[in-house]
Amino acid sequence: MDVVLKAIANPEALRSQCLVVPILSEGKLSKVAKTLDKMNGSVIQSLIKRGDIKGGLNETLLIPAVSGIAAERILLLGCGEGKKLSPATIRKLLGTALRTLGQNEITDATLFLDNISVAGKDSGWIAGQVALIGGDQNYRYTRTLSHPRKSPLIKRITLACEPNKILRSAVTEGKAIANGMNVAKELGNLPGNICTPTYLASEAKALAGQYKTLTTRIIEEKKMAELGMGSLLSVTAGTDQPAKLIVMEYKGAAKGQEPHALVGKGITFDSGGISLKPGSKMDEMKYDMCGAASVLGTMAAIAEMKLPLNVVAIIAAAENLPNGSATKPGDVVTSMSGQTIEVLNTDAEGRLVLCDALTYAERFKPKSVIDVATLTGAVIVALGRHASAIYSNSDAFAAELLNAGEDSGDRAWHMPMWDEYQPQLDSKFADIANIGGPEGGSITAACFLSRFTKKMRWAHLDVAGTSFHGGANKGATGRPVGLLTQYLINQSKLA
Ligand code: BES
Ligand code: MN
Ligand code: ZN
Repeated sequence: MDVVLKAIANPEALRSQCLVVPILSEGKLSKVAKTLDKMNGSVIQSLIKRGDIKGGLNETLLIPAVSGIAAERILLLGCGEGKKLSPATIRKLLGTALRTLGQNEITDATLFLDNISVAGKDSGWIAGQVALIGGDQNYRYTRTLSHPRKSPLIKRITLACEPNKILRSAVTEGKAIANGMNVAKELGNLPGNICTPTYLASEAKALAGQYKTLTTRIIEEKKMAELGMGSLLSVTAGTDQPAKLIVMEYKGAAKGQEPHALVGKGITFDSGGISLKPGSKMDEMKYDMCGAASVLGTMAAIAEMKLPLNVVAIIAAAENLPNGSATKPGDVVTSMSGQTIEVLNTDAEGRLVLCDALTYAERFKPKSVIDVATLTGAVIVALGRHASAIYSNSDAFAAELLNAGEDSGDRAWHMPMWDEYQPQLDSKFADIANIGGPEGGSITAACFLSRFTKKMRWAHLDVAGTSFHGGANKGATGRPVGLLTQYLINQSKLA
């Protein structure tokens, strides 16, 4: 979707499939609504009088061609008070407007946001959100449908404004984030029989083929064994699909500059292993690679934007199945760090692949490391599906990620990871157990990872609740590509 920034002096004369025009609470007309109303003998005023639209948040009314106005339609958009809207409110409003356009098969529209302001955000932020939300909505899953439903995409949104450099770069960022989210959604939605570890590896290679700043290298199981990745390998022991450790490097800055590292959980299907999951909703465990997908999507976004920094992505891709060679509860494995782990539950496999990937990340001497994982069901109990959980060994780092989430509309919450929780991971037969009991399950999962990241500025995002939806609206969301990309944008501006 293209976003065109343009000053529009005479909205009545504009040829467009649709003009999107704000109406404020108590039926007050925005500036552009007033202008249009004058040109067509007060159609808008009379619709308001009749009660067809009152101006409340997210009300819509689509008016077909009216005399005196060149555009084919007007979409009246209720914007409430209009002033100092919260970022979440305007995101919802933009979502409503763009969705209504889509539902009416309008592919090219002009958006007026006069009389609208957002608390703490400038017009650049709003322009970026238009590009982001529009691009996000322009995703359709079709890959495994023999007769995909035809639904046209929005081709172009013209945003009425005084264009400048800041607005233009915000639009570029918003577009890149949306594209990255769509990369993540597609990988997430693909079924486990297509999206295997081998498939993820080939997609990472394909991405590197698209940008000369990106390179991809695959570490095979034999090499993993040489590296001592006994923990990662214990997860893939029960499947015929070979595990892959995918290493992608993005070079946007000087060679010697230390990279930021992103580490993704890429379990392409999580049956639970010998600690088998119940059958209902087990299909949703094809989404257990959404952390990895978001890392790939973020790499695509930063390559697209040509961010001036270095980033390394490490994806631990494996399938968790229970064949005759599978790891059993009670087995003890040795991680690449040398620490031994008692596998009390083979369904706590995410941390087992991540710990070795995190140890591997050390060799890049990263400025920061963020791992992203659909790690626990417990995080959904704690935070629901609106916020990703942030854990970190640096409160300042956690705060930076929290801000990046607020900024991109991809929100997260900082969780505690106090030492008091650590004894839940004590084991009689190894240095650490892979589960910490029923209490604070997302926290003890983070505590587990913290044992492997002491030498780095590290954060962990538990995205089990945010990266996909189950049930009737089943589908990947593309989160937390927004948060991750925004964090890297912010870092590139500091440098
Ligand atoms: N992939 C799951 C976590 C998950 C659950 C993701 C629901 C998305 C939605 C993870 O590997 C897992 O099975 N975790 C266990 C941990 C437990 C055995 C300590 C869980 O959450 O039940
Ligand atoms: Mn599991
Ligand atoms: Zn899992």
